[in-house]
Amino acid sequence: MKLFDVFPLFDLNIVKGEGCYVYDDKGNKYLDLYGGHAVISVGHTHPYYVEKITDQLNKLGFYSNSVINKLQQELAQKLGEQCGYPDYELFLINSGAEANENAIKLASFHNGRKKVLAFRKAFHGRTSVTVAVTDIPAYSAPVNQSGNTTFAPFNDIEFVKKELETKEYSSVIIEGIQGVAGIHIPHDEFLKQLRDICTETGTILILDEIQSGYGRSGKFFAHQYAGIEADLITVAKGIGNGFPMAAVLINPRFKAVYGQLGTTFGGNHLACAAAIAVLDIFKKENLIENAKTIGDYLISELKKLPKVKEVRGRGLIIGIELDEPIKEKRTKLLFEEKIFTGATGTNVFRLLPPLCLTKDQADLFLNKFKQIL
Ligand SMILES: Cc1ncc(COP(=O)(O)O)c(C=O)c1O
Repeated sequence: MKLFDVFPLFDLNIVKGEGCYVYDDKGNKYLDLYGGHAVISVGHTHPYYVEKITDQLNKLGFYSNSVINKLQQELAQKLGEQCGYPDYELFLINSGAEANENAIKLASFHNGRKKVLAFRKAFHGRTSVTVAVTDIPAYSAPVNQSGNTTFAPFNDIEFVKKELETKEYSSVIIEGIQGVAGIHIPHDEFLKQLRDICTETGTILILDEIQSGYGRSGKFFAHQYAGIEADLITVAKGIGNGFPMAAVLINPRFKAVYGQLGTTFGGNHLACAAAIAVLDIFKKENLIENAKTIGDYLISELKKLPKVKEVRGRGLIIGIELDEPIKEKRTKLLFEEKIFTGATGTNVFRLLPPLCLTKDQADLFLNKFKQIL
């Protein structure tokens, strides 16, 4: 059997990882400023993370959601404490799209409305409801086109206000920082006004923090820079440091109804052990502060470079836009300088490194980046 060919691949076989480095099968060592697409939060094969998962696997890997799972309770308690939403409730699933799918569904169960307001260039996933609120037509099959989504211009509060005042919208979904679109930050004032309009019109505000959350921006959630609270928050990627897991954080005014939401694998014992280890490491190693310090440093240094058109980001979610296509430069960085970066569109590098990136590693990147520019 052959693999279904849906991803363009680099000719590389990564077989080992350690901290901010990965290694291929020929023994080459690469600095990982991509984090497997924002997934690696505490670093590859962190010893405490490996130990916690190994211990759990030796006890119990999986049992169903029909019995008490104390690890889920421990995770909920630790996450609530660290993320600034201690009174919210937690629903655990397996992927980012699944988190958004459940959040949009929960909002619609809650207020009985059908329409969803999303933003131009948004990416929220590839399942049926999430691809319908993703502004990339090529990802949407005819069966996904429900007609329930309106795409608003990003940061345009007047447009949003006019739509939401119809009171036809169940929810608004917005990324804490738009990732796939090329790292675009919603204005703090825009988010504040959006929060108010949602409250006034009975519309549920969903913050998709799948890429921008879990400490990456230098705060636990990127929307916390605006000082607002969302009704539902979705997380994935960094939550398990590579172990597939995701979650919806739910305002306590939402009523849980048996049967409406469910999952076989979500919140299983192994996934919880991974997610608890991540939060323990965040606390012990001050990784969110590190993301802010190293991120601020990288952004300010990158802004000094002459050939760079614009640098956008907060903490360790950074977009570097050039005036020209980056493909060749990115390939050179990877194969000659042994540095992994992400890309978006034709002209933007995307940096999404592990949150434990050091200043020396940031400097190493800056030097190599200057050379390839
Ligand atoms: C902002 C955002 N939302 C949702 C998703 C979908 O997550 P997943 O690929 O885990 O389904 C992604 C993935 O890149 C994302 O960046």
